[in-house]
Amino acid sequence: MNVKDIPVIAIDGPSASGKGTVAQRVAEKLGFHYLDSGALYRLVALVAMRAEIDLTDETALADIARDLEVVFAGAKIHLQGEDVADAIRAETCSNGASRIAAYPKVRTALLQRQRAFRQLPGLVADGRDMGSVVFPDAALKIFLTASAETRAQRRYKQLMEKGIDANISTLLQDIRERDARDSNRSVAPLQQGADASLLDTTSLNITQAVDEVLRQYAEICAKAV
Ligand code: CDP
Repeated sequence: MNVKDIPVIAIDGPSASGKGTVAQRVAEKLGFHYLDSGALYRLVALVAMRAEIDLTDETALADIARDLEVVFAGAKIHLQGEDVADAIRAETCSNGASRIAAYPKVRTALLQRQRAFRQLPGLVADGRDMGSVVFPDAALKIFLTASAETRAQRRYKQLMEKGIDANISTLLQDIRERDARDSNRSVAPLQQGADASLLDTTSLNITQAVDEVLRQYAEICAKAV
């Protein structure tokens, strides 16, 4: 079987839009594999920061991206045997990831690694460039977004639930800065592609968003037979 025949659902969108949760649930419902591409950028940032590598040293960062020894096992992310699933969610890693993601060499080094997730019976991949660069032939491309205020509130709630203190106006400012950096970079910027379907979740809950993605995918499958 040709790898191109393995269906991909690409879910791209800005920070804290809920795309990770939606993508994971869609994957569960369909029995598909799941790729959290942001985790790869976060991992590169984590390794670089731990090794005190300058986050502007593109070549060194690309080497890290190429050599990452990572195993995704459900909710766990094993980096050379250590579970770093929580460590990569820290705000320092979020900011580091967004900075290093602007380097073309880093993105290229992660390309094949991401494409290797495309396995039967299918893949749901979330990130910024899943539909535009990594899986341009995806069966369904969703651009999942919500207003910056709604996203800041969601992140605030998430952090509170984890017992992490946060300030909503700082979170909003951080989201706006990250949006600007992700959207304005010259390689693989965050933007809704012409072939992507816009899903604004400002007034939708997770279940409604998941159902909408599943509905669109079922429609595509029905057309294909
Ligand atoms: O969860 P959140 O949306 O805040 O972040 P993430 O999806 O884990 O991604 C972290 C950072 O990695 C983003 O700010 C992007 O700059 C970068 N990223 C990217 O450039 N391309 C991707 N496909 C995924 C993430």
